Amino acid sequence: MLFLVPFLSCLPTRTLGDAPEGWQLGFQDPATPVMQGIIDLHHDICFFLVVIATFVLWMLGRTLYHFHKDRNGVPEKIIHGTAIEIGWTVAPSLILVLIAIPSFALLYSMDEVVDPAVTVKAIGHQWYWSYEYSDYNQSDEEGVMFDSYMVPEDDLVDGQLRLLEVDNRVVVPANTHIRVIITGADVLHSWAVPSLGVKCDAVPGRLNEVPIFIQREGTFYGQCSELCGANHAFMPIVVEAVPLKDYISWVSHKLEEI
Ligand code: CUA
Repeated sequence: MLFLVPFLSCLPTRTLGDAPEGWQLGFQDPATPVMQGIIDLHHDICFFLVVIATFVLWMLGRTLYHFHKDRNGVPEKIIHGTAIEIGWTVAPSLILVLIAIPSFALLYSMDEVVDPAVTVKAIGHQWYWSYEYSDYNQSDEEGVMFDSYMVPEDDLVDGQLRLLEVDNRVVVPANTHIRVIITGADVLHSWAVPSLGVKCDAVPGRLNEVPIFIQREGTFYGQCSELCGANHAFMPIVVEAVPLKDYISWVSHKLEEI
């Protein structure tokens, strides 16, 4: 079968969507267990949505049809019925409980902080992000820290995404527990990366925390997701998940620059 290998490379390969596409309707491909959970929950709830919407529309249609004056000239005098009232109160609450169970399970699993190997601090500014890797701080002033600005449209090179590319990406190791702590320097911002299932407010004077575990290598694109002023649309986020050894060499390179 090995002779097939050269031909396989001619087949269209599936690229993972870690950035938005034109006319996209669905989610971006998940890269963390949390995002996978969010997508699964969305699909589970969609099932209830379809069943309920179908039932309500069917009942509405039947009501309009049967209560027409031609078909039902003399209305019934019934004004209430205990059995049906219990039914239409209990049934929806059971559905809500059925939705709530997986929803809370996911919600609490998102808060789970597994002893992180790497901590990244993201700080929102008007209008760019800055990042600090305080694990490697040698003093309060010296450490791995850098600003991350959007690449302007005129400076884009082939393959870079308009309004999404930044000059300095956040590099993190894949398959490692990472803690991102998020704050704002001036006004509210929000650090959001769809593929990672993260959308966390950057609040001045407050430190928010979100754990991520990226299951595959890749480049993940996100945007500031809290209206923060004129250039809100122009402070994107790029997270690059690399193998551990590449991350180590990236960090040591950064440390040499200090
Ligand atoms: Cu920063 Cu919107």
